[in-house]
Amino acid sequence: MTEPSRSSPSGNGAGDACASQVKTIQPPGWGDAEAAAKRLRAVFEPSPLLQAGPGLGDDLLLKADTLLPTGSFKVRGIWDAVSQLSEERVAAGLSTVSAGNTALALAWAAHRRGVPAFSLLPETAPPAKIEGFRAAGGEPRLVSVPELFRFLKEHLWENEPYVFVHPWTCPLVHRGHSSLAVELLEVAPDIDSVFIPVGGGGLLTGVAGALKDRRPGIRIFAVEPAGCAALHHSLKAGRAVSAPCETVCDGAAVPYLTEELYPALASLVDRTVLVPDEATLATSRDLLLRQKIVTEPSGALATAGARMVPAEERGLSVALLTGASVGAAGIRRLLE
Ligand SMILES: Cc1ncc(COP(=O)(O)O)c(C=O)c1O
Repeated sequence: MTEPSRSSPSGNGAGDACASQVKTIQPPGWGDAEAAAKRLRAVFEPSPLLQAGPGLGDDLLLKADTLLPTGSFKVRGIWDAVSQLSEERVAAGLSTVSAGNTALALAWAAHRRGVPAFSLLPETAPPAKIEGFRAAGGEPRLVSVPELFRFLKEHLWENEPYVFVHPWTCPLVHRGHSSLAVELLEVAPDIDSVFIPVGGGGLLTGVAGALKDRRPGIRIFAVEPAGCAALHHSLKAGRAVSAPCETVCDGAAVPYLTEELYPALASLVDRTVLVPDEATLATSRDLLLRQKIVTEPSGALATAGARMVPAEERGLSVALLTGASVGAAGIRRLLE
């Protein structure tokens, strides 16, 4: 990734993959989701929907996107967006900003398109994510957390020759994520509620947009780490605000909400659930030992949130298992 200060600020590259994005983002509808699910099914199988095992929660289903290529839901939106760009646009390469999982999905997508992948990553990212990105052929640039968010807020990708794929505000990415809603209702048409983890809000915009379009009565629980809850604070304030951010859930550690996304998120969320880190780690451990499923902390967040709401209140529910990018050290720590 080029140093932002070295290139012309007017932008000289292939720009944003979602250059047509408008100021206020419209979530995808059911038709968008069906089309995306069809496109993605040609590339990988739907993720399994599992009954939560004993002790994990009654009337609870788990959507295991941890088992998708690259180990997270991100491959849905990133591949769907990248696959629709012309050869000419992607020729110089693809870039993103990521806590790790978007980068892994981008490297996978770039490999399929035969072009290079670049990503800004926080220098505090788990080694499993940084090394995973490198091993997949990606070129990481490690920066401080403030520098990473400055890059996003100031649109510094405009200085680069690559096509930038924004993980939260790109409607093409939301559409890819919305494929999850189609897979869900195909197998479990009678669900009452869905628990979705929130970082920047891209996943929730895609999945909840399609679900609410098809079944407006489905309740959406937005799950955030208690120590990093920008959506919760924004909904209370009635506008996009920043919030303190201290959590083990590195994938969901986003200290602010983007203004373009706030109206969509506010219209889709029925309730927020804030989960202390200890509860998330306990759930990740239970998923490993009882369900035999590996999750990173953010990947277990939605399940931990569902466990905090009584089954009588939430009805038949689905929790999204969103990521499994954890190495031996992370698993060892969980078991200590
Ligand atoms: C494992 C995992 N879960 C949840 C999220 C949150 O997704 P979003 O940023 O689209 O809200 C992320 C984001 O990177 C993630 O990696």
